[in-house]
Amino acid sequence: MEIKVVENSKTVESDILVVNLFEGEKTSSDLANEYAVEQDNFKGKFGETYLLPTYGKEPFRKVLVLGLGKKEEFCPNKMREAVAKAVKKAMQMEAKRVAFSFEGIDFDYSEQFTMGAFIADYRFDKYKSEKKDNKVVEVYVQASEEGVRKAEKIAAAMTFTRNLANEPAQFATPTELAYIAQDFGLDTKIYDKEECEKMGMGAFLAVGRGSAEEPKFIHMKYTCENPKKRIAIIGKGICFDSGGLDIKPASSMLTMKDDMSGAACVLGIMSIIKEFNPQVEVHGLIAACENMPGSKAYKPGDILTAKNGKTIEVDNTDAEGRLTLADALCYACELGVDEVIDIATLTGACMVALGSNAAGIMGNDEDFIKRLIDVGSRNGEKYWQLPLWDEYFESLKSEIADMKNTGSRWGGASAAGVFLQKFVKDVKWAHIDIAGTAFLEKPQKELIAGASGAGVRTLLNYIIEQG
Ligand code: BES
Ligand code: MN
Ligand code: ZN
Repeated sequence: MEIKVVENSKTVESDILVVNLFEGEKTSSDLANEYAVEQDNFKGKFGETYLLPTYGKEPFRKVLVLGLGKKEEFCPNKMREAVAKAVKKAMQMEAKRVAFSFEGIDFDYSEQFTMGAFIADYRFDKYKSEKKDNKVVEVYVQASEEGVRKAEKIAAAMTFTRNLANEPAQFATPTELAYIAQDFGLDTKIYDKEECEKMGMGAFLAVGRGSAEEPKFIHMKYTCENPKKRIAIIGKGICFDSGGLDIKPASSMLTMKDDMSGAACVLGIMSIIKEFNPQVEVHGLIAACENMPGSKAYKPGDILTAKNGKTIEVDNTDAEGRLTLADALCYACELGVDEVIDIATLTGACMVALGSNAAGIMGNDEDFIKRLIDVGSRNGEKYWQLPLWDEYFESLKSEIADMKNTGSRWGGASAAGVFLQKFVKDVKWAHIDIAGTAFLEKPQKELIAGASGAGVRTLLNYIIEQG
């Protein structure tokens, strides 16, 4: 799909012209007012559509009236959702050229318009032997060229992330992620198992031990002259989470190819970062491995030593993400960056608490967390802050090591957070739990079922906004 910025979309030859209707108002199309509004009492409720033929009298073959709801409630986030609805409708109708003509909108919708169109255009059909041929080819809109081009790149990163997270675990292995990371033209270092041993990553390596797939620690670096700030983004990269010896039941294991969604987010961002040329240094880090119950697998009761020397008693091998992140966090802190963000499909508890509409966020700096939540809220991603009180560490106390990797079932998202905090030193840190948002059971707003690209919009926009 290509988005073309035009002066007047009504004069472009198209299969569909989309015009907007605010609830209870008139549209910019006389035809739509006559039929939809007056004769059929079409109200323009948010997301409702009404289709009209033009009998070959216009450069557009049909008019799609798109309800935008009450004008005072309309906002960029709603614009994105509405455009996605229109594009999906156009795909059902097998329209190839779709023009949009909006009137009465008093904010710049260029970016969210573009995001909505590209997100709706996504599907994962590479393994279908017969592919549907109903893609929209060209979209015409009156918008700012700059906004469209910026959002187009963010959408491309999101598509990259969704493709990777949708990819079966048999293909998206740690080695494959390492290959992908080396393709971005960034300064990239891949550490193999022996090198990780030398670095003292005893927690990360324990998790990967039960798998025939080799673990890989991935470090991608983007930089510029005189960066204003140095940021590390860490993605949980469990390419498959069987639970290990504390194996998951079949129903819980079914979607565990998605346990590298955090890594996919980081790779998506690093795949495009150069094109934005942000004036900050960004390190993309992934401790990639599989959590499998092989004969060499780590066991409940084992004691692991993380990179910072802290010891961890394994209480449950299914709480593997925090172990891999522990070593990655130590590594990130040693880089001497200003800010560290980790993003992870970390706990079922977070999914129970917030469902699939919001990710959990926690950290050691209120202002930093607020800034991330704000970027998300402007770009279609919701976050809800969870506490990191000391009390959550009580149940992680061990008789024989510095801590256990799990404790009480209750408050599991915060318990995982306080565990991670033990590996964070002298840096602003935020932890984002996307267990509920990364992989959707059913369609949600502009997203179809499957990988959602969670985190890409927030973290990439955050990076761009730093300078
Ligand atoms: N990858 C899972 C968390 C998860 C659950 C992600 C559902 C996506 C959807 C994580 O490694 C895990 O297994 N967590 C356990 C922790 C428990 C053993 C303390 C969980 O949440 O049950
Ligand atoms: Mn697990
Ligand atoms: Zn996991």
